[in-house]
Amino acid sequence: MSLIKVEGGRRLCGEITVQCAKNSVLPILAATILGGDTCVIHACPRLRDVETATEILRYLGCRVHWEADDLVVDTATMSRCDIPEDLMRQMRSSVIFLGAILARCGRAEMSYPGGCELGPRPIDLHLSALRDLGAEIEVCDRCLCCRAPHLRGREIVLSIPSVGATENAILAACGAEETTTITNAAREPEIVDLQYFLQKMGVCIKGAGSSTITVEGGTGLHGCVHRCIADRIVAATYLSAVAATGGEVCLRDVDYRHVSTVTAALVQAGCQIRSEENLICLKSDGILQGISPVRTSPYPGFPTDAQAIVMASLLRSRGTTVFVENIFENRYRHVPEFLRMGADVRLEGRVAVLCGVEKLCGTTVRATDLRGGAALVIAGLQGNGETHIDDIYHIHRGYDCLVENLAQLGAAIRYE
Ligand code: UD1
Repeated sequence: MSLIKVEGGRRLCGEITVQCAKNSVLPILAATILGGDTCVIHACPRLRDVETATEILRYLGCRVHWEADDLVVDTATMSRCDIPEDLMRQMRSSVIFLGAILARCGRAEMSYPGGCELGPRPIDLHLSALRDLGAEIEVCDRCLCCRAPHLRGREIVLSIPSVGATENAILAACGAEETTTITNAAREPEIVDLQYFLQKMGVCIKGAGSSTITVEGGTGLHGCVHRCIADRIVAATYLSAVAATGGEVCLRDVDYRHVSTVTAALVQAGCQIRSEENLICLKSDGILQGISPVRTSPYPGFPTDAQAIVMASLLRSRGTTVFVENIFENRYRHVPEFLRMGADVRLEGRVAVLCGVEKLCGTTVRATDLRGGAALVIAGLQGNGETHIDDIYHIHRGYDCLVENLAQLGAAIRYE
């Protein structure tokens, strides 16, 4: 299964239940260690990043097993507070364990996390937030040695609303005495989901979804059962795919408010969308128009994770669309692959100018990162002939059954 083969030109029709959000599950798996008890994550997606998180938990001494689609994590037996470099390198989110381990053990050791495919991804804000709570952090040879026998709650002001730094600050604050306030916190739905999970564990936390979050640490925590929110980027992927190929699809279990900037873009491009509580239906004739500039920004703005995906849906649109990537420095690595298929996209720093072309040609392309890989699948679904997508391990980091689901909707797509 090292290659995905897609034959373009099929309309997509049907219904899909969208998987739970990777970006909710990963910090929540880190949070399980706060309680020293058993937590059950319902309908946990089978993803490579989830596998990495479970390997980290097992390395720490926790017991983890699957019961059908549920992941059961017993952290009572946790016996270590370090993470080896090979696990840290496998994903950026491994750094979220830092705040949780510190809160549980009062010390933590790990190397810098991997996942630098989008340009430099510093963790200065994570470290500064933990230092604000009283952690002493030494950095030597890209190794982090953290000590915090007594985390103290206080005000943390983030200079930018970093998702990961907000999560790390929240998790560490759960182990602090007194109250922590996080100002300029990230407002992503996944932070709200983390808050909900922590409340179930017994943490007194409020404000997630707004820019100010308060956490009262030091309470006795316990296990809980949780089902994470649906993955809004996976939802955006299916919607963009159907927008581009034409057809009609309904997505179940998705909160339409979480994808409103993406659906607004697809409506502007010519799609019809009907949203109800936990349901989004999209209808498209496959003939799209260029849209007003797409500028990525923190939630509730247009998600950087959907930039490549929506760009892929517009490759054959009539007219021009400008994209401005404001979150990551190097998030256009899918563009040279689009060009190999005959697309017309010009890059100038953080700006990409897309002029729709009449046809895309199937060829061999390489997934360069997770969302860029999904975008190539969307391009392949519109291509003349067969597109071969290589390096699909990136896609497996975040998509559960992407190929199977698209095939169920009518796509000519398979693994090889
Ligand atoms: C999370 C998401 C990722 C998404 C991103 C932005 C997870 C697992 N990943 O990543 O899918 O693309 O949010 O929505 O939830 N920054 C610093 N210093 C720091 C931390 C971040 O300068 O210490 C910068 C980053 O380089 C970037 C910006 O802040 O330019 C936003 O990054 P951040 O919100 O932290 O993204 P992640 O948490 O890594």
